Amino acid sequence: MKIGTYYYPEQWPREQWERDLDRIAAMGLKIVHMAEFAWFDLEPSPKDFRLDWLSDCVEMCRQRGLDVILCTPTAAPPVWLSDQFPEVLITDEHGTPHRHGGRRHYTPTSPRMQEASYRIVEAMATRFGHHPSVIGWQIDNELSGPFDQSEATHKSFRKWLRKKYLTIDALNAAWGNPFWNTYYQDFDQILMPQSRDPGYRNQHQNLDASRFWSWAWADFVKLQADALKRSFPASRPAPFITTNFMPFHPDADPNDMRDSLDLWSWDSYPVSGFGRDFKDEQFRFGDMASIQFTHDQMASYNGRWTLLEIQPGQINWSGFPCQPYPGAVRLWLWTAIAHGCELITVYRFRQPRFGIEMWHAGLIGLDGVTPTSGGEQFAQVAAEAAKVWPDAHPTSIESNQPSAGLLLDFDQQWNFTSLGQAKRWNYSELLCQYHQALSRMGYRVRVLHPNEPWPSDLKLIVAPGVQMVDDALLARWQRYVDAGGHLVLTCRTGLQDRDAQFFETAYGAKIANLIGADISAYDSLPEETWGTIDLDGKAHKWGVWGDQLKPAAGTDVWASYTNMFYTGAHAITHRKQGSGSVTYNGVYGDRVLAEAVIEKLARTIGNQAVPLLDRVRVLERDGFFIALNYTDRPTTAPAPADATFVVGSRELPPAGVAVWK
Ligand code: GAL
Repeated sequence: MKIGTYYYPEQWPREQWERDLDRIAAMGLKIVHMAEFAWFDLEPSPKDFRLDWLSDCVEMCRQRGLDVILCTPTAAPPVWLSDQFPEVLITDEHGTPHRHGGRRHYTPTSPRMQEASYRIVEAMATRFGHHPSVIGWQIDNELSGPFDQSEATHKSFRKWLRKKYLTIDALNAAWGNPFWNTYYQDFDQILMPQSRDPGYRNQHQNLDASRFWSWAWADFVKLQADALKRSFPASRPAPFITTNFMPFHPDADPNDMRDSLDLWSWDSYPVSGFGRDFKDEQFRFGDMASIQFTHDQMASYNGRWTLLEIQPGQINWSGFPCQPYPGAVRLWLWTAIAHGCELITVYRFRQPRFGIEMWHAGLIGLDGVTPTSGGEQFAQVAAEAAKVWPDAHPTSIESNQPSAGLLLDFDQQWNFTSLGQAKRWNYSELLCQYHQALSRMGYRVRVLHPNEPWPSDLKLIVAPGVQMVDDALLARWQRYVDAGGHLVLTCRTGLQDRDAQFFETAYGAKIANLIGADISAYDSLPEETWGTIDLDGKAHKWGVWGDQLKPAAGTDVWASYTNMFYTGAHAITHRKQGSGSVTYNGVYGDRVLAEAVIEKLARTIGNQAVPLLDRVRVLERDGFFIALNYTDRPTTAPAPADATFVVGSRELPPAGVAVWK
């Protein structure tokens, strides 16, 4: 298991480079990540490439046995580019171009930006593509940006629409343009929306804009990936190409980048101080569910994934610079390892002395030599991982745990953002609820995508909030159940086609046969208001969304409403179909409800596992069991009596980790 760090040589005096790299090696770290944001240092004026300093650094790494990940510097284009071609700058919703400075001030659709990016990436690839120490490349950084209003983006959006719809009549039909006279006569009349929120304009247009914008970033990534691949050696395994995603960020759907990437990465900053659960010190651990969901999401594209950035301590950007709980950094690293990551790097090695992120912790403190608590935890995990995997490091997500599927359909997130209907609806939170409910019952979660093959051995699949469906997905669900699978669907499923138009049927009729119930109405409650349902004698709350169900003969009722004027109406149903079943949870409630539904189903289908404690998880990788304690209380690792502990012990302290055979 290789663990490493981001290092920005250009931000430190040259005389310190060797000392810093020595320290990196001495801490047991094995990877150095460089060149992110260093465009100006690499090309101080157009076509004047100065790569020697980077080459020296790569060589210093090689001498110390350190692997290198290089990053293309396009997240921070240099001033000469903005000066010469102001059209590279992103244009805001009022039509004002961004000023040069900071980073992410460019639009990916600008031909000038594309040209300059290709040039610098090609130069770097030519110089370093063959270097034996360079194991991989990161493209850009956290691809994202507001819906750009530059001419290049309008043009590119129109081109994308032309390709999708061919005729303007087809577009008018898909966008529902008879509504409020929003017809277009020609693609050239169409503009990129000003933001993701359509206000009272056309949400179908916004949905397509989200799809297009993700495509535009993917296209920009492809341009760079192509430049890189051209220089890769044929004689040894090619370096990987990745880019670092932000969790659930709507700008870029990782799925759109399958052609370019071969390793999937994300950036994890669990303790931002935004967490609102103060009943204990949970805010010092972060949200376990979303961390674990995103790990499994990253693993879902081709099995190869990594955590490129992880918070090493206090951060600068949230306004709530809370200290992570002692040991939390180690806990996060082991969580990633348990979920099958290939490697881990950290933003960043040294805390900067200047710049907008000067308050951001590093592995090393301000004096440049003393490890911070995060640094010590990194060194500890590097040593522990070397104990667990002394010879080789695992590269796959080998696990013998029983698996369950969780369907992620990024398109739904865009649709819910374009037209949410219920303010409280939160697609990502709903996914996390079910992730936690499944992992609590000991399932390894496999994140699935609607148009990709699903593993054939999944006994249980949860598909929350799949509001837009097509016939292929409906048929796939039916086939899965016919083959003995147990499917869980939720409210807001199967209501719309892929243009996000309602089917011309009774509400919910598309899935009525599958779930064995009609949906007679739905309700949604005001903020902070909760209704109740009864599930096996226990009251559960709901508030975001609640369908009122009319089960057909042969469908069992699992839960019914216990208040509101429709008391007694049904909320959750379960229908056996051959050896398979469909459970329909018509209620978007809280995590505890999702857990109760999954536990009941798991029991029904023969899973007798003892549910794991809240915020304590156990995962298996390569025959090792890894227990993670996301609470500030000690607990006991649920290990068998004859377990041999390699890391930690049966007594799990707060933020504790234990690994056993
Ligand atoms: C990330 C970003 C890094 C750094 C970090 C600070 O989102 O990719 O470059 O800015 O935040 O926490």
